[in-house]
Amino acid sequence: MGDLDGKVAVVTGAGRGLGRAHALELARLGARVVVNDLGVAADGSGRDESAGRAVVDEIKAAGGDAVAHFGDVANWDDSKGMIDLAVKTWGDFNILVSNAGFCRDKMIFSMEESDFDAVIRVHLKGHFCGIRHASAYFREKGKTGGQVYGRILSTASEAAFFADPGQPNYSAAKAGIIAITNGAAQALAKYGVTANTFMPRARTAMTLVGQTAQFFEKPAEGFDTFAPENVSPLVGYLASPAAANISGNVFIVFGKQIAVMEYPKRAANFESPEAWTVESVAKTVGGFFEGKQPVKDSFIVPPIF
Ligand SMILES: NC(=O)c1ccc[n+]([C@@H]2O[C@H](COP(=O)([O-])OP(=O)(O)OC[C@H]3O[C@@H](n4cnc5c(N)ncnc54)[C@H](O)[C@@H]3O)[C@@H](O)[C@H]2O)c1
Repeated sequence: MGDLDGKVAVVTGAGRGLGRAHALELARLGARVVVNDLGVAADGSGRDESAGRAVVDEIKAAGGDAVAHFGDVANWDDSKGMIDLAVKTWGDFNILVSNAGFCRDKMIFSMEESDFDAVIRVHLKGHFCGIRHASAYFREKGKTGGQVYGRILSTASEAAFFADPGQPNYSAAKAGIIAITNGAAQALAKYGVTANTFMPRARTAMTLVGQTAQFFEKPAEGFDTFAPENVSPLVGYLASPAAANISGNVFIVFGKQIAVMEYPKRAANFESPEAWTVESVAKTVGGFFEGKQPVKDSFIVPPIF
């Protein structure tokens, strides 16, 4: 018996990397899994169904149940199709793990419009489409008196908080994903559906590029901090009945670390006795910034751990 026996999950981008690890973990816990993957390269180019098929085979070989879906998460109909496939195959749908995506990193002054559009589309619209269709399914079920077991899990990145200078497209998409997910958490609370966001770190096709690859290298011996499998237990837990009261939260997860984030606090608050003038702003707000370094002592917080 597993924590997710009888539950039906959809994991997007589950052909490799983190998505594959999540799909295997959910299946190990007893969930039946729609393995969605378009099979694209780390920059979003190409298309290949073999990775998604291999994960389905792996789940089945371990005694689980899975079905492949080769649609594009940012396509409205494909995205609805993966949830419809879950319902058609197993009669229900319960868990959405939105994970699919790719990167096209460039500094803001070099980024092309197409790099911005493609990355915003796959991550932000990809999450929106999945959460939109999942939410409609849960709401309809709740309205017609059905028992709703719903979990929405979104994949953001610490770039959403720390604003990587080489990822204006990606960091913006990931920040938007937190907003969409937390909005869904509020919209669906009355149906008992939870929605949470996690920010992983792992060695995958996405991070094995350029200088980043060194950071994620597998150690010659000892604990492999950046194995994608280290992220999936949090996903399994948040998807489980035990996490029914956790919603609208943001986590950072990798290796042996799990951090629960909180929203930025006000660093200072000023109120003028009269309407503000440039002079009074300079005196009060300006005073607060005296001696502080631009960017360094700013909203851009350094990565934790
Ligand atoms: N690896 C990290 O350290 C890290 C850090 C922060 C966030 N993330 C996020 O984790 C998620 C998974 O990334 P990963 O590191 O496993 O990368 P990955 O490149 O190994 O896997 C991404 C998968 O998504 C699939 N995909 C891409 N576009 C798709 C589309 N339109 N429709 C369906 N499938 C599509 C790819 O085919 C691929 O299998 C991403 O959202 C990524 O932004 C990863």
